[in-house]
Amino acid sequence: MMDIDLTCDLNGLKLKNPVFTASGTYGVGEEFKDFYDVNLLGGIVTKTVTLEKREGNLPPRICETRGGIINSIGLQNPGVEAFVKENKEWLESLKTAVIVSVSGRTVDDYVRVCARLKERLRFGGVELNVSCPNERKGGVSFGQDPDAVEEIVARVKKETHLFVITKLSPWTHLVRDVACAAEAAGSNALSATNTIPAIAVDLKTRKSRIGNVTGGLSGPAIKPVSQKIFYDIIKAVEIPVIGVGGIETPEDALEYILLGATAVEVGSANMYNPMAARDILQGIRRYLLSNSMQDLSLLRGCLDEKRDGSE
Ligand SMILES: Cc1cc2nc3c(=O)[nH]c(=O)nc-3n(C[C@H](O)[C@H](O)[C@H](O)COP(=O)(O)O)c2cc1C
Repeated sequence: MMDIDLTCDLNGLKLKNPVFTASGTYGVGEEFKDFYDVNLLGGIVTKTVTLEKREGNLPPRICETRGGIINSIGLQNPGVEAFVKENKEWLESLKTAVIVSVSGRTVDDYVRVCARLKERLRFGGVELNVSCPNERKGGVSFGQDPDAVEEIVARVKKETHLFVITKLSPWTHLVRDVACAAEAAGSNALSATNTIPAIAVDLKTRKSRIGNVTGGLSGPAIKPVSQKIFYDIIKAVEIPVIGVGGIETPEDALEYILLGATAVEVGSANMYNPMAARDILQGIRRYLLSNSMQDLSLLRGCLDEKRDGSE
């Protein structure tokens, strides 16, 4: 049988394969250990951690829509100190890339969480979740503000030297500027995208189906939008970009790779099929075998944009 090589190099971070799980949909991976060996994956991105404990938003925090899920969890987490205490043993035992997702209310918050993680944990790097309000700028999302993203990334890099993935928000017409700002500030990679702001209302009760009224849409419904944003970003930067948004099948993941993704993150699909990430990895291997391809290099970034009859 042909030797398949799924390893990839995420700007110096060596991965067994390109399949990560996405933040907030996979806990720290321990929740999935009875389903399959988490170490089979290329990596995991943990739920987002903040400096202080967050209780999260009012319920209901999640609802199903056609082809998708709206969530408004509100970054519930125990705070960085408790996160490390509770998960250190598990995370340090993993033989796959561990990326800790980090968020904050101010630029300082991001730096402090990253510094604490660096002091207390052995892990692969951080994913900066910038899809949240900047307290110092009247609650405008960091992810809509290229200068704010540049400042976060530059300070985290300078003060911690951690491996940094910046996770972009799809909710801005400045997404290319934000991507370029993160790159210029030293981000090692990007991931795109986070959820898309959304609402679902109930005609009978005349209430929103989400306690916080609005939330973020994820799942198959967002794939074409996430892929378009991904497509814009990949053309704007040189650093690797991880594809996230609506990946449910191996084909979905392969499409992002065709668009140029170095790796992918599987999110909502983990929540309705606990085997999803492993199944997607196996499907990628099957695709390579059935197309007599040894690795992904002949697919990655090979989108043919010409049409018959066009120059
Ligand atoms: C229930 C839920 C919780 C999430 N929590 C986080 C989070 O804490 N941090 C983050 O960066 N993204 C979070 N996300 C967004 C996902 O990581 C991912 O970017 C998004 O869901 C799109 O991927 P998908 O369509 O495969 O789910 C969450 C998504 C869901 C569905």
